[in-house]
Amino acid sequence: MKGTVNYSVVGNVAILEVDNPPVNPLSSGVRVGLKECFEKANSDDSITGIILKGAGNAFIAGADISEFGQQVEGPDLHTTLAGIELSEKPVVAAINGPALGGGLETALCCNYRIATQNSFVGLPEVNLGLLPGAGGTQRLPRIIGPDKALTIMLTAEGVQAQKALEMGILDEISNNDLIEDAINFLEKKIKQNSSHPKIRDANEMLVEARGNSEIIDKAKSYVAKARRGQFAPGQIIKCVESAINLDDFDEGMKKESEYFLECLMHPQREAMINVFFGQRTAAKIKDVPRETPTSEIKAVGIVGAGTMGGGIAMNFANAGIPVTILDQDQENIDRGMKVINKNYQFMVDRGRMKEEVKNKTVALITPSLDYDSLKDCDIVIEAVYENLELKHKIFMELDKHVKPEAILATNTSGLDIDSIASVTNRPEKIVGTHFFSPANIMKLLEVVRGENTSNETLATVMKISKAIKKTAVVSLNAPGFIGNRMLLGYSKQANMLLLEGALPSQIDNAIEAFGLNMGPFRMMDLIGLDLGWRARKLAGVDSPLTNKIADTLCENERFGQKNSKGFYNYSEGSRAPNPAPENEEIYFKISEENGFTRREISDEEIVDRCILALVNEGAKILEEGVAQRASDMDIVYINGYGFPVWRGGPMFYANSLGLDKVLEKLKGFQKIDSDFWKPADLLEKLAKDELKFGEAPDINERKGKMKFPDIVGY
Ligand code: 3HC
Repeated sequence: MKGTVNYSVVGNVAILEVDNPPVNPLSSGVRVGLKECFEKANSDDSITGIILKGAGNAFIAGADISEFGQQVEGPDLHTTLAGIELSEKPVVAAINGPALGGGLETALCCNYRIATQNSFVGLPEVNLGLLPGAGGTQRLPRIIGPDKALTIMLTAEGVQAQKALEMGILDEISNNDLIEDAINFLEKKIKQNSSHPKIRDANEMLVEARGNSEIIDKAKSYVAKARRGQFAPGQIIKCVESAINLDDFDEGMKKESEYFLECLMHPQREAMINVFFGQRTAAKIKDVPRETPTSEIKAVGIVGAGTMGGGIAMNFANAGIPVTILDQDQENIDRGMKVINKNYQFMVDRGRMKEEVKNKTVALITPSLDYDSLKDCDIVIEAVYENLELKHKIFMELDKHVKPEAILATNTSGLDIDSIASVTNRPEKIVGTHFFSPANIMKLLEVVRGENTSNETLATVMKISKAIKKTAVVSLNAPGFIGNRMLLGYSKQANMLLLEGALPSQIDNAIEAFGLNMGPFRMMDLIGLDLGWRARKLAGVDSPLTNKIADTLCENERFGQKNSKGFYNYSEGSRAPNPAPENEEIYFKISEENGFTRREISDEEIVDRCILALVNEGAKILEEGVAQRASDMDIVYINGYGFPVWRGGPMFYANSLGLDKVLEKLKGFQKIDSDFWKPADLLEKLAKDELKFGEAPDINERKGKMKFPDIVGY
């Protein structure tokens, strides 16, 4: 059994410490421990009250997520928490770190809650395809009202101690020794009260909300926008509606259990838990030991004050790390700093940042025209446009000016890291850090490992990526790395479908109905159709078949959202796509010129061809060792490319279809293009052995160095 509860006594108070490192989830051993310790404290006449805390830096991070869907030992969570709520002696939750999910639900079963200044509370179950199933949906609305409770449950965001105090979740904040303060608080309450409050008895806020349909309508409209396609949010709303409308706590709890069970059995739960563990596994590099030394990053340099450079700089400034941002001319610097200021001002205007925090954060960013200003930086990230020659020049300068122990990183989305490293005297300190646009918002960071990148460099970059709140995934240095390589096949299929007979709106609608944030043609319009077209023109190369339509649109001055016309038309200042029937002549003509007889294409074929192209390429990436594991590719696609989290990522989705079925479909598509649809060897092998991605040891065989393309059009 995992975890335990430590029992000690201070004066007449029993101190119960949940001990299940590192974050004290309520695993089987903890549940047994809680039950036994509460019984012990309640049966000891010398004990007047109980304090519940977590060991280390966390209170309780919730139910043990690895137990969902498994046969579990020990008492269930409801029985355990009933033992706390029914305790004859008053109980104070001494919250010494995150109190999340079942952790906050445990605290809500205590009579009082006191927390350290740095702790935070929340009910993030929705991110796991679940709802707070240990009374959270019934108790939280009772102390803060259903409106605020719904916000906490549906956004899954943590609430800092001070705010939780103001909302009424906490009774007090400790600024000194938490246990001492908790004992004093408890003794004061024992002196004052003959009975101690139980949240289950508080009904006023629910009665007040009865008949107020606005609360539920607001929650529903948030869910429709922010949690499109997810099952659990609707269940959470139903739980809160039950809390409001049923006049009985126990009846509400019954409803919560019913709705929780439906979430538990729903396929989205498994998919989203796969993502939870996948995010954390991605941070681990198989051949880089945990104890690898890392260097301190106290100062960061960025080369290039464009959109990417500015966005990257904001990440570090947000984490309180000073950044020097270098560009070659004053005009670029001024423009870049203006954009940074505008982005922060936007946050202030939306109430997401206080003015004084903005001022402090912006003050951490220093513009510069001089390479020497980067000399003391611990890491410098180059973020200029994709030109290998230019990058060589910059890295030679950096190597000359920046202290030798510093890491030099490139934000390239597809150039050869080893080639960049070769112009420096520190190839072990060269690494790719591929941020996604907008870099201050997108969670994904591809960390690209060159031939000579050292373990220390990698471990340091992984550590700093956590500090700037990115989800980092490691890729070997190979064309397209992970994300853009997978995207190539997906985009190719979208373009082929257009040539074969589908229209952009049909393809986009089918892909968006599958759950992606944005279909491929809307995405191309957003990025700009002209990027690849200009690069090809500059290099004097012909348009490949799949780019012929986009390039012809560019010849007709249709570049995408940037000039309000591309595959779609856009009204001034709006990103909403409107049909562009004038393009159809171009589509039909190019189809015909290239020997296609346009046909009706089903939405199912569209989804299969686009998504399974991702999967087959993913399998190849895995067998080549470019990605460490299948779940890394799921994390890349969810965090960088808008793949629906509730489908668990493309590789998980393929597992859920069944790899034999996937193989059958690929073989069927070989009639259209036998080379493109040739199944990856790994996929054939797993399907034959009736295994899933992630179940067999990944082949991970490096198939020699792959040639990088001359043009990066990503
Ligand atoms: N159950 C099992 N393992 C957990 C866990 C949990 N609830 N929470 C975290 N862990 C594990 C992680 O997988 C990781 O394991 P690893 O070291 O083997 O990779 C380890 O604990 C440390 O986690 P993090 O890397 O995430 O540590 P951080 O310090 O960055 O963050 C945290 C700590 C904020 C507590 C974060 O772990 C977190 O958000 N945890 C999940 C909280 C959550 O979703 N709780 C709800 C659970 S479901 C529930 O309670 C249902 C109930 O309503 C019935």
